[in-house]
Amino acid sequence: MAAILPYSDASIDLAAAELRRGSVVAFATETVYGLGADTFNPDAIAKIYELKRRPTGNPLIAHVVDLAAAKRVSSGWTRRSMHLISACWPGPLTIILPRRPEVPAIAAGGFETIAVRSPRHPLARSLLYACGGAISAPSANRSGGVSPTTAQHVARDYADQSDLIILDGGPCILGIESTVIDLSESKPVVRRLGAVTIERLSELLGPIEVDMAIEQSASPGSSVRHYAPTLAATIVDRNQLAQDLSLGGRAAVICFADSDIPSPHVRFDMPSNADGYAAGIYDALRRADETGCDRIVIERPPYQHGLWSAIHDRLRRATTA
Ligand code: TXA
Ligand code: MG
Repeated sequence: MAAILPYSDASIDLAAAELRRGSVVAFATETVYGLGADTFNPDAIAKIYELKRRPTGNPLIAHVVDLAAAKRVSSGWTRRSMHLISACWPGPLTIILPRRPEVPAIAAGGFETIAVRSPRHPLARSLLYACGGAISAPSANRSGGVSPTTAQHVARDYADQSDLIILDGGPCILGIESTVIDLSESKPVVRRLGAVTIERLSELLGPIEVDMAIEQSASPGSSVRHYAPTLAATIVDRNQLAQDLSLGGRAAVICFADSDIPSPHVRFDMPSNADGYAAGIYDALRRADETGCDRIVIERPPYQHGLWSAIHDRLRRATTA
C-alpha cells in the first residue's frame, strides 16, 4: 500500500527530499493528481513511464512555479505566450514551446518541444518551491485508466507500490485535466480540451484551431480510448435511456437527478452545472466501475458550451471500445 501523507510542512519537506534523490511522488493539483519526478533527472523520469505503464513516446508536462522556472525548461517565449500566462497562470493551462537542450529528451517523450504548466493548488506550489526546480508529472492513473481526483484514487491504482508517497491535498477542485495549447509554431493549436475553455482562449488570442491528433495517437493501442473504466461503458441520450436499460442485466448509470432509473440498476447522480459535473465525473466513473454491475451507462449531458466540450471529450474517450 502506498503511503498517503496529509498536507503539512513535514510532508512537503519529505516529498521534496524524495524528488531530489530521484524518487517518484504523487501529489494533488487543482485538476487531477499527478505522478511527479525531477524534470532534469532522466532515471527518475524513466520510473514514471514504468510505474504508469505509459508508452515512452507520450510526452509529459513539466510543472513549474512561475515564468522564471518555465524559462529554464522551455524557450521561445513571445508576447503571445506571456499574454496567455498572465491571464491563466497559475492554473489549468499547459503551454507547448521549444524544449531547452538541458532538459533530457525523455522528459518530453523525445519531442523537441516541452509542455509547461504552473499549477494553482497550494500543495503543488509548496512542493515546487521546496524542490526548487521543475516536476514532470502525468496524471497519476495507470495508462489508459480514469484520472485520479483524490489521494485514495491514487492509492488504489498503486496498491502494489509500498514505497510511493502520495501528498493528500483533498479532492481536486476542477476535476478535469488542463487545456493543452501548442505555441511552438506560428499558429496556436489546442492539443487537448480541458479546464480552460476554448471560448476563454479565443477571447485572449482570437479564433483558435483544435487538433488533438497527438494525444489520440499517443493513447494506448493508438486508439482514442483513454480515461476509461474497466467495465464496458456507453453514452446514451436521455430519450433512449429507458429502452437501453430494459435490455437486461444490471447497469451502473451516471445520470442527472431528474432521470428515472428503474431497479435493479444503480444510479450515480451528477450535478447539472459544468463545474460540478467536471469535479465529480472521474470519481463517479471509478465508483461505477466498482459496483459489480455488468456495464456502465452514461446519460449524455444535453449541454455543449464552455467546459461541457471538454467533458464530452472525456466521456467519448471513456466509452470508445
Ligand atoms: O491537468 C493536467 O494537465 C495534469 C496535472 C497532473 O497537471 N497532467 C496531465 O498529464 O494530464 P498527462 O501526461 O496525463 O497529459 C499530458 C498531455 C498528453 O495528452 C500529452 O500527449 C500532451 O499533454 N503533451 C505533453 N507534452 C507535449 C508535447 N511536447 N507536444 C504535444 N503534446 C504534449
Ligand atoms: Mg493523463
